[in-house]
Amino acid sequence: MPDFLDFKGKKIFVTGAAGGMGQAVSALLAAHGAHLILLDRNKEQLDVTRIGLEGSDHTSYVCDLGQIDAIEGLMSQITKEQGAVDGLVHCAGIANVRPLKLSKYSYMVDVMNVNYFSFVEIVRCITKRKAFNPGLSIVGICSIGAFYGAPTKTAYSSSKAAMYAAVKCMAVELAEKGVRANVVAPGSTRTGMMEQAEEYSAGTDSYKQKLSRQYLGICEPEDIANSIAFLLSDKARMITGACLTVDGGKMST
Ligand SMILES: NC(=O)c1ccc[n+]([C@@H]2O[C@H](COP(=O)([O-])OP(=O)(O)OC[C@H]3O[C@@H](n4cnc5c(N)ncnc54)[C@H](O)[C@@H]3O)[C@@H](O)[C@H]2O)c1
Repeated sequence: MPDFLDFKGKKIFVTGAAGGMGQAVSALLAAHGAHLILLDRNKEQLDVTRIGLEGSDHTSYVCDLGQIDAIEGLMSQITKEQGAVDGLVHCAGIANVRPLKLSKYSYMVDVMNVNYFSFVEIVRCITKRKAFNPGLSIVGICSIGAFYGAPTKTAYSSSKAAMYAAVKCMAVELAEKGVRANVVAPGSTRTGMMEQAEEYSAGTDSYKQKLSRQYLGICEPEDIANSIAFLLSDKARMITGACLTVDGGKMST
């Protein structure tokens, strides 16, 4: 029986590959035959991801995606060394929270750089240089935070809403090149990022209330990885400009 998710011979670029979701999606894609190009700023954890993958021809790059001006040079190097890609998954992100009165421009820019501008810059570089194979699929990791208001999250939620708006525009502009662009919007998912959030808010009523509305429970990184893999695959060939919410039902109410 053919593999539902067949990535044999496909090259997929994954940012944030040292993190919870990046690691889970890398493992899933490699198990289905993909050759992975991994990127993160955390070298130690990135090595852990690479070494744990099925197959041996995966590569990794250490880079701080907050340095937007350095991305173009890095992307030409990656293209020269790895050739054209079939997929991009942008998992790199930071979940900084800060009250509005402390959210100065420089703070907003730091969050937007990693969560949003680096994504657009990577897509720009890959598509401008035609550094992709026919059927390129782009998946950004957004957040359900893009769709509702929450205190201290002006920077984070705006960066995720911007990403969703961006893929809708990319979907239209890049359709003639056969490129698809979508986002997955996770709810609370058991990764380092969630642990970090829990350090500040685990006992609070608002946090408990937030999780109680995630009716199917807390997502595992593998739940998000499955949806990313689907959007990357040919099975999603008519899906572009879309947001796939993976939140245990939270956005239903
Ligand atoms: N965990 C959740 O509950 C949750 C919910 C909604 C959305 N998300 C989003 O999912 C994505 C993946 O997050 P995760 O939960 O796996 O968190 P994580 O913290 O485990 O992983 C994030 C990864 O991004 C990398 N990163 C951060 N800044 C970087 C930079 N400047 N340059 C390069 N790499 C950088 C980190 O080193 C880390 O490996 C993020 O975009 C996050 O906003 C997470």
